[in-house]
Formats: sequence, C-alpha cells, structure tokens
Amino acid sequence: CGIIGRVGDGNAIETLLTGLENLEYRGYDSAGVAVQNGAGIDVQKRSGKVEALIDSIEPDAIEGRVGIGHTRWSTHGPPTDENAHPHTDGTEDVAVVHNGIIENYAGLRSQLQAAGYEFTSDTDTEVVPHLIQSYLDGGADNETAFREAIADLEGSYAITAMFSGEHVLYAARQGSPLVVGVEDGEYFLASDVPAFLEYTDSVVYLRDGDVAVVDPDGVEFTDLAGNRVDREPETVEWDPEEAGKGEYDHFMLKEIHEQPTSLAQAIEGRIDPENGRIALEDFGPGTFAGVSNVQLVACGTSYHAALYGALTLNQAGVRATALLANEYGVAAPPIDDGTLVIAVTQSGETADTLRALRRAKTNGAETVTVTNVVGSTAAREADETLFIRAGPEIGVAATKTFSSQAVMLTLLAQRIAADRRGEPPADLDSLLPDLAAMPDEIEAVLESSDAAAIASRYRSSRSYFFIGRGLAYPVALEGALKFKEITYEHAEGFAAGELKHGPLALVTPETPVFAVFTGQEDEKTLHNAEEAQTRGAPLVAVCPDGHPACEIADAHLEIPETDPTLAGLLANVQLQLVSYHAAELLDRPIDKPRNLAKSVTVE
Ligand code: G6P
Repeated sequence: CGIIGRVGDGNAIETLLTGLENLEYRGYDSAGVAVQNGAGIDVQKRSGKVEALIDSIEPDAIEGRVGIGHTRWSTHGPPTDENAHPHTDGTEDVAVVHNGIIENYAGLRSQLQAAGYEFTSDTDTEVVPHLIQSYLDGGADNETAFREAIADLEGSYAITAMFSGEHVLYAARQGSPLVVGVEDGEYFLASDVPAFLEYTDSVVYLRDGDVAVVDPDGVEFTDLAGNRVDREPETVEWDPEEAGKGEYDHFMLKEIHEQPTSLAQAIEGRIDPENGRIALEDFGPGTFAGVSNVQLVACGTSYHAALYGALTLNQAGVRATALLANEYGVAAPPIDDGTLVIAVTQSGETADTLRALRRAKTNGAETVTVTNVVGSTAAREADETLFIRAGPEIGVAATKTFSSQAVMLTLLAQRIAADRRGEPPADLDSLLPDLAAMPDEIEAVLESSDAAAIASRYRSSRSYFFIGRGLAYPVALEGALKFKEITYEHAEGFAAGELKHGPLALVTPETPVFAVFTGQEDEKTLHNAEEAQTRGAPLVAVCPDGHPACEIADAHLEIPETDPTLAGLLANVQLQLVSYHAAELLDRPIDKPRNLAKSVTVE
C-alpha cells in the first residue's frame, strides 16, 4: 500500500493525486483522498485504480491546503469502496491512512463497539480513527488523542492522521516505512520517496517509534512520549521515473530481493503454532478429507509452481497432475466426486487459466485458486481462494510470485494429505521449521551468491541447459524459462534422467549445464550431469557446500541445507540471479522483455 500527505499553501488535491499515481506500483485495487475543505474533512475514495478515483473527482469541488491519500493492495478485506482508505470516525472529525497490520485490532474493535462507536468497514485500520475519537471524546486535544491511540496499537504501522479545522498532519511509524519531504513552505508525508520526488528531493526518514507533527511552519519529530528527537534531512538523487525501484536497477532484481519478505507473508498465520498443523484461511479440520485426486492448471511460471505442487502432492501420497491450462480444453482428465482442481495464477486474469477453471467447474469439480490478486477474476470465480500475499509484481518475468505459489502449494499439499489421513504426515515436524527458516535462508543466498560471476564466465555460450530430478525438475524448467525470457538466449530445462534420451546430442563445450540438487536421488542426477561434462559441457552445480557434486563441478552456486521439499526454492533464487545478471550483461530490457506481457488475457 502507499501513503501520501501534504501541508502547504494552495490546493493539496493535485499533489495528492500525483502522489497516488506515483505510488500505484505499491498497490492498485482501491484509492482515496481526504482534504480539509474549511468546513470539515472531505473524503473521496473508491475501489479500482487511481485513474478511476481521479476521473470521479470534480477538480474544483474538493479543495483544501492539507490532505492525505492512500492506494491500497488488499491482503485481507476485499477491495470495496468501504474498505478503501482514508478511514474516518464517521463524523469526519478525523481521517486516517495506514499501511501495515494492527495485530490487536479485533480486541480494540470490540471495546470501541461496546462503547458505541460504529464501524463501516472490514479493515483493521478503522479502529484508529475511532480510537482517536474516543480520546477526543474523553477531553484530549488532537495531538494527545493521536499519541494515546498510537500507544494502544500492536503490530506494524505507518499512520498519518488529520483533524477537522486544523492545518496539521500527524504521523507515526512502527515497522512500516514513512518519510517526510521538505520544501520551502510545503511538506509531504509518504510511505515512499517516489510519491513526492517531483516536488522535493530533501527527505527525512522516520524511525520506528517516531511521531512527526507537520504544520505549515515546520516539522517536529518526537518519540511517542513527546521527547524531541533529532532527524536530519537527506538529499536523494533519483530520477522520479526510476524511483520505484529504490536502490535496485530493475524491478526484477528488487522483486528477487523481496522474497524473504514475500515468503514470510505467505506463511504468516498459516502454521498453527499450538499443534504444528497447517491452518489455511477458513478451511476447517477435515475440509479436504474427501479429495481423492487433484488437477492443477496454470501457464508459464505458474505452471512450474503447479508442477512443484503436483509433485509435492504425489510425494505426500495424493494423486495429482499438473496440466497446462491451454491444453486442458482438449485433454482434461476425467473429473469425479473426489476431484479438486487448483488454478494457479499470479494475476488471476490469465485467459487460458480462467477457461480451464470454468471448464472444471462446469464438469462438477471443486475448485480453489492460488493467486496474488484480491478481487481478480479467478478469485471471484473459484469456490475458494488462497492468496499468496506477495505484493505487486511489476517485472514481466515472475520471480517472487513463483516462490510464494510453490510455498502455498506445499502447505496446501501437506494439508490435503493430513485431512485425508486424519492426522498430519510424520515428516511435517521437520518440514515446518525449515519452512519458517526459508526467509532467512533466501537472505543468505542473496547475500553470498556467485551468480553474477558465473553469468559473466559463461556469457556468449551457444545454449544453456538446466537439469533436475524430482522437485528440482520444475526448478530446472523455471530456470530455463527465466533465462530465455529475459536474455533472449536459447535455454532448455530437462528432467535430469531425460538428458540421455535425446538432448545429449546438443551438448558441447559451448552448452553449460546447470544441475540442481535437492536431495532427491542426487547421485543419479550427478551421474547425468557427468555424462554432459564428459562431452565437454561446463557443469554448474546448484547444491549445498560439501555436496559430492562440488568435487567435479566447474562452478558452484551454493544453497543452504534444508528439507528436500524446499531446497528447490533456494536453488531457484540462484537461477533467477544467473538469468538476471546474464540479461544485464547483454543489456536487455529486463523488466519488459520483447513480445511478452505480464498478464495475457487472450487464449
Ligand atoms: C504470462 C507471463 C508469465 C506468466 C504467465 C501466467 O505469460 O508473461 O510470466 O507466468 O502469463 O501468468 P499468471 O498471472 O496466470 O500467473
């Protein structure tokens, strides 16, 4: 989600709407603004893109020198007008925008409801304006009411509030970014610098625990108790167009680096710490007890995640097949009472996948979609939805959504297996701690990867081959797809054992082979890799340090030791980085490869 706020002379609305457009890459399913109009606070908000909000606003009908705005990326409540920010206390004495999660909102909400405050949305955010109002009703002044309310919150937040009849913004940060922009007589507040970069490059970053009070004469930084803290302005040197990428040269690299966070979000709340079981949304115990077979349908990278899911299901003892959604129309396997069809789609809008989903429903299957987009067509049409919560993905080549889909499907596979047996599978005890450690392990891979050097060493090869067995097979396919998408070089992925059944004819000293080892029959994969190496191919082993493959490999991409069900995801991060660096050496337009689109809505 994105926050923008502005204090100064003249009308705030233009600045707020520009800020929201600049922040659209952070979320785009609903948007809203609130400004002081002299008489009170005027709130305009709606579901849909920022453009829809702009079109709905009469340019002269909303006016005021102070305002706040928000663009939302739903993770829990659906993207409705009511759930859009800003939120108010109902009387519009106070308006609030918020990013993050207020963990104790349910308790606060019941207390406030018991005291007579009426809620109109499903969001955690709405407790904040009511809480502030409750302190105002108790006689506190605006600033005290704001501080008292913030002190009651648990969780992570970046919050900005404004009060009727006062040209001041109040902001607080805990675990979610917030920055103040400073320009003569004009001040900005935002979740991210790109929001206001065309107006100023002088910024002050709030730290956790900081409160900022911004009025036309200046900004005051204090801690929550009101003690002053020193925060110095810094100058940022970014081109506004490029700024969304932050410190990264491309969105793809930024998204690769976001994987520790996106995976943590995918897992959050889905493992029941009490009994080590998998808790998925509203699926009560035994929901999947009657599932006898699973068909996963998807395209592109999502198909590779689906294949990962199908193999995990098979290994957990559940019959499952991954099918290309565009082949499903002519080759759908029979559906019976126990068939569950899972549509895996990042965007939730891929026409091929939607068609397969509809066909499955027509034929009587139960359907679930695993998607990133709340309110997407797949989420609306499937019987049930599991959101991967990866945040917006801008790079056309999918990266963080792949790992989140694979993790989501791993959880779902274990849950289906557990429901069918009536008890969790025995190996869940070792899998769950390794799953919880994945964000840190991906961080370790990102920090120490030799992918750039390896991409450089094997640049100008003729073809690039990727091999793997078991769960390393979809990773090999995905490694090759990523490579061809963004480098425009020829790359293929094979099941390691298939190399000798044909592709070996292509192997020469000019075809490096990336072999992925995940602890599932590794000795056989190593044998297959050696067959290629004997014919002159350079061998790049993707495996833990000390693995037998390291002894013969020409190059090594290290991954931490982990459960074989998850190791492929660590290997995949290394392969994402290899593709990225190879494309960078070739000076390709990495975020927007030729001929490809992020979401393909035709069959
Ligand atoms: C397009 C994109 C791919 C993506 C595929 C499926 O072809 O270029 O990156 O994997 O669609 O997209 P979905 O949104 O259904 O996951």
